[in-house]
Amino acid sequence: MKPAFLELTQGARRVPVRFAGETLMLPEGANLAAALLAAGVTVFRHTPVSGAPRGPFCMMGACFDCLVEVDGSVRQACMIEVAEGPEIARPHVGEPDETL
Ligand code: FES
Repeated sequence: MKPAFLELTQGARRVPVRFAGETLMLPEGANLAAALLAAGVTVFRHTPVSGAPRGPFCMMGACFDCLVEVDGSVRQACMIEVAEGPEIARPHVGEPDETL
């Protein structure tokens, strides 16, 4: 399926970024959340209670729906730039908590 978002930095140097076990070639220096969306990634995390999928919403650091784990630290993808080499994962991939 074609991504719903267009990339604006088409001339930028591409660097490899590992996301959820897959290597993506993203534009260096671009906003990480925007670059992942343009690459077709729509689910960045799952909520810990219901397991509902979440992706970037505000793109300005307010909603925390873009949380990803970057080299072991949970960060807002919309607040960091694409750089070569980090291992990025979805921070919560477990089953929904049925006890709540
Ligand atoms: S998209 Fe809202 S905090 Fe990143």
